[in-house]
Amino acid sequence: MHSSICFALLLASSLVAAVPRPFIRDAPVGRRRGCGTHITAARVASSERRFQAQRLPPESENATATLDVYFNVVFSNETIEGGYVPDQQIHDQIKVLNDDYNSTGISWRLANITRIKSEDWFLRVAPESTEEKGLKKSFRQGDAGTLNVYTVGLAEGDGQGLLGYATFPMDFESEPTSDGVVLLHSTLPGSSSDKYNLGRTLVHEVGHWAGLYHTFQGGCTGAGDEVDDTPPEESPAYGCPQNRDTCPGGGPDPVHNFMDYTDDACMTGFTKGQAKRIKAQLRTYRHVDV
Ligand SMILES: *[C@@H]1O[C@H](CO)[C@@H](O)[C@H](O)[C@H]1NC(C)=O
Ligand SMILES: *[C@@H]1O[C@H](CO)[C@@H](O)[C@H](O)[C@H]1NC(C)=O
Ligand SMILES: *[C@@H]1O[C@H](CO)[C@@H](O)[C@H](O)[C@H]1NC(C)=O
Ligand SMILES: *[C@@H]1O[C@H](CO)[C@@H](O)[C@H](O)[C@H]1NC(C)=O
Ligand SMILES: [Zn+2]
Repeated sequence: MHSSICFALLLASSLVAAVPRPFIRDAPVGRRRGCGTHITAARVASSERRFQAQRLPPESENATATLDVYFNVVFSNETIEGGYVPDQQIHDQIKVLNDDYNSTGISWRLANITRIKSEDWFLRVAPESTEEKGLKKSFRQGDAGTLNVYTVGLAEGDGQGLLGYATFPMDFESEPTSDGVVLLHSTLPGSSSDKYNLGRTLVHEVGHWAGLYHTFQGGCTGAGDEVDDTPPEESPAYGCPQNRDTCPGGGPDPVHNFMDYTDDACMTGFTKGQAKRIKAQLRTYRHVDV
């Protein structure tokens, strides 16, 4: 019998399906990492079949690409608590993205910052909500290879307690306007989320946007996160556990990987296999030459 988290993942669905996606809710006291990006085992399997069939060959081993990033700052009033994040935090966040993605060959260029005053969107933009659809429909910019980030408060309704959520590359074609990353504003570098204020929440969400699953996807069985060099993991790791090894024979859990649920300071990198998958997903579904 697997844990309740595996059960939740089995029930979950992704943006393409009409069923609302469940997501991990926050612990009652304070937030702990809760990412709203979930996908069922069945959907991973069908997506992987499609990906293997459609996957484009690499340009060259060391190809690089620079992608545009549009920051859409939703605020309820012009205070930090109201979501009015300083430009400096956005520049610092872009630097964290560039540092953390350096080994993948992908770099990021801030294209613009748009400030959007809406208390409703700030408080209630949850996965699959009418608020989410309205916000993205009005403000998304660019094409499949353009990253749109929406910073919001995730304070009420179904999004309460999440640090962020993202769409996958393979869903761009059918739902282009939904594409992007929704991010809790207080996860930007130097802001107020205890343990989650070094900018690694966006690094993690952009990992999904670039085609990566959680390291604990699928638990101990099957193809897991579809990457060969990330050891399997039965469930998310929180904090920064030492010597965690949840899958027999799989090796130590990848608690320092950006695609786990540990604290920002615990996360150190992507694997070579993840970098390879990111490039292949970006080539195939986001038309990036890399
Ligand atoms: C890619 O980079 C690695 C490390 O710098 C180097 O060993 C390898 O020869 C490069 N490959 C190509 C095709 O340039
Ligand atoms: C600004 O908005 C936040 C979030 O809605 C709210 O908690 C705060 O009280 C507001 N501050 C002012 C000065 O209106
Ligand atoms: C990685 O960092 C090196 C050293 O700063 C830099 O020359 C290179 O362009 C970076 N690569 C990417 C993809 O950001
Ligand atoms: C950048 O954003 C500002 C404010 O939203 C807007 O007026 C301007 O046209 C945008 N510039 C570009 C190049 O998109
Ligand atoms: Zn996630």
